[in-house]
Amino acid sequence: MFSINPFAELTLIVPAFFLQLFVVAMVLLIIIGTGLDMLHKKNVVYFFRNASKAKKSAKKELSAGKKTAVILKTVASDIATTSELGFGKRRLAHVLGMYGTILFWIASVVLIFKYSDGVTAPAYIPIIWHVGAIMTCVGGYWFWFFLRVDVSAEAHPWYRIITADLFVLALLACATFGLAWSFSQSIGMTGLSYLFLVLFIFANLTLFGGVYWSKFAHMFYKPGAAIQKNLAEADGSRDNLPPPADAPEQFGLGIKREQPKHY
Ligand code: HEM
Repeated sequence: MFSINPFAELTLIVPAFFLQLFVVAMVLLIIIGTGLDMLHKKNVVYFFRNASKAKKSAKKELSAGKKTAVILKTVASDIATTSELGFGKRRLAHVLGMYGTILFWIASVVLIFKYSDGVTAPAYIPIIWHVGAIMTCVGGYWFWFFLRVDVSAEAHPWYRIITADLFVLALLACATFGLAWSFSQSIGMTGLSYLFLVLFIFANLTLFGGVYWSKFAHMFYKPGAAIQKNLAEADGSRDNLPPPADAPEQFGLGIKREQPKHY
């Protein structure tokens, strides 16, 4: 199953061109959804206004080299390892899900655009596709069942679903139905494989069509915000926040009463 290209079988009934068109449509949905989200929330306008305000209170002018170093450090730590989530299960689950999804998407694009026209894909590309989907499931289900704030801290049951769950659920549905489709195909259960294919298509339409309503766009906003935050640290403007107090952190006993959970 792992080394079989699940899209190859599909092109026997649907021309490769339609698969490619579907991918292009999904990319357009991301652009439209994120664009509408930015217009609605006005978050980008706020972001740039805040950044230019902070620049005025900068204590020092950063050279191009220093700026590049700050940006590279942000990419390597804040973005590539989601350091914002501290050291713990939350970060590990996110990193698994994030890299899993990236692998799954890249392998899907390569398989659909390069290897769906009768050309056999080298085994490692379908393997990347399956491993990516499995990583997404491990990170995503771990987050869903155990780590969500309302589940782990507010003791709501895992099956309580709210609009904010649209992103993680649609992402999990894509990876799960993708795997189920590939598995049922590989064991020759054609009827079942069509059912999972339809569910896989619906899951993708929900994930990419729901960008405006879901947390999808955080994958673009978070890196931008992390870069701005670290540049503001480096130039001393600190986003107009007061400097850290030069005094011991005395918050009373209350803060030690319970282990912090880092969310
Ligand atoms: C392909 C890229 C990414 C994927 C698939 C992804 C996936 C997810 C998922 C499924 C969640 C849980 C959403 C929920 O609360 O229901 C999440 C939350 C989060 N993501 Fe991402 N993410 C990506 C990129 C990023 C990047 C680049 C950053 C930071 C630079 C980031 C930071 C966060 C943070 C801080 C949370 C909140 C985590 C929590 O509440 O435990 N994500 N992400």
